[in-house]
Amino acid sequence: MATDYSHLSSFERERASVFHSWSAQASIKPLMVKSAQGVYVTAEDGTTYLDFSSQLVNTNIGHQYPSVVAAIQAQAGLLTTIAPQHGYESRYRAAELIVDRSFDGAAKVFFTNAGTEAVEHAVRMARLHTGRPKVLAAYRSYHGATATSINLTGDPRRWPNDNGSSGVVHFFGPFLYRSAFHATNEEEECQRALESLESTIQFEGPSTIAAIILESVPGTAGIMVPPPGYLRGVRELCDRYGIVYIADEVMCGFGRTGSWFAYQHFDVAPDLVAFAKGVTSGYVPLGGVVINEAISATFNDRVYPGGLTYSGHPLACATAVATIEAMENDGIIDNARRIGDEVLRPGLAALAEKHRIIGDVRGLGVFFALDLVADRATREPLAPYGSSSPALDAIVAACRQEQLLIFSNFNRLHTVPPCTITPDEAREGLARLDRALTVGDAYYTGS
Ligand SMILES: Cc1ncc(COP(=O)(O)O)c(C=O)c1O
Repeated sequence: MATDYSHLSSFERERASVFHSWSAQASIKPLMVKSAQGVYVTAEDGTTYLDFSSQLVNTNIGHQYPSVVAAIQAQAGLLTTIAPQHGYESRYRAAELIVDRSFDGAAKVFFTNAGTEAVEHAVRMARLHTGRPKVLAAYRSYHGATATSINLTGDPRRWPNDNGSSGVVHFFGPFLYRSAFHATNEEEECQRALESLESTIQFEGPSTIAAIILESVPGTAGIMVPPPGYLRGVRELCDRYGIVYIADEVMCGFGRTGSWFAYQHFDVAPDLVAFAKGVTSGYVPLGGVVINEAISATFNDRVYPGGLTYSGHPLACATAVATIEAMENDGIIDNARRIGDEVLRPGLAALAEKHRIIGDVRGLGVFFALDLVADRATREPLAPYGSSSPALDAIVAACRQEQLLIFSNFNRLHTVPPCTITPDEAREGLARLDRALTVGDAYYTGS
């Protein structure tokens, strides 16, 4: 018998029937959204929020970008789906545009539905290409929620999903503010992180390691921009030991850091690149793997044992084409870089002058993190690793009160607006954040 939902509010209907990600279902209070435009999201009650989170750091061109919405509508009128074994224009156009913006030696794109599948397939390709089983991944990382990618993930969301036999070995990447190597400057941190990684490779056995996977700038784990030379050092280690270098650009790619891909800031060419999110700004789900010539050639005469019903979905690929063209034609990537250099970096530094709970400000483009501390001298996090705290809950609630959507994780706030944000909108967001942080100042226990 059909259930009668009509007496329930929309909030109650959502809560009654939808099972939400990463949540204890009884404790969540989703914001009920009515519409969104540009960098603003309007709730059902009419309140409008400035989106400093880009949803899940994916609406890189903001909401409802007219040319992309028009391209989706046009594609829907032409052909909404086609099986992956057929060829189709929007699919090869998207692949061409992505390869053209990638590293020298990039050959092909394998399309997936999302980031986690991109990571799964990149690892599968690396294992088949090398004939080796293990993958090295950073502790401070997030790579996705399916079987391999959640085991690659370093953060505590792995723990309940860790099957103990995934073939993943974790290591510490560079992160000077919370150095695992007792380093006191970026050069030391870089050198020691590379030495430690090389020891890990040697002690694990190079002939057992298929790939090293790294977010070029780790996102959810804290936006730690790697020191100059680190990614090139990883590239050299991979070359020395015959290991495939996989760059996970799912969050940091497609304009987020002020370049097409974040690895391009560091003058390095990976072998495989996993992407998703910003490639379509999330308007239609799409992910994929950029594959270099050598790995692509491995599967010229040998069957690649992997596929997806929706690999290269025409609607998603048409969205990617329109998104990339909008980014290119409308100067969106340059805008992200300028907003980072001219508004976010100085603006967040000014907030750090004022609020002692801000221990560290780091990032680039529209990809910045505030590392919040209870004490600047000890750098004690304002929430413990792996969970929240009353202080963080209060600050996030204050952001909501200020009509600011913000990304928070453990003791951090991430200011990650769309790449299309204007200087005035960014300044407005910083003003709202300033007021919200005042609520957190009461939790500072240092001198
Ligand atoms: C770096 C990184 N890799 C992979 C993923 C997984 O992507 P998806 O959620 O689209 O599966 C994410 C998601 O946040 C991510 O940030």
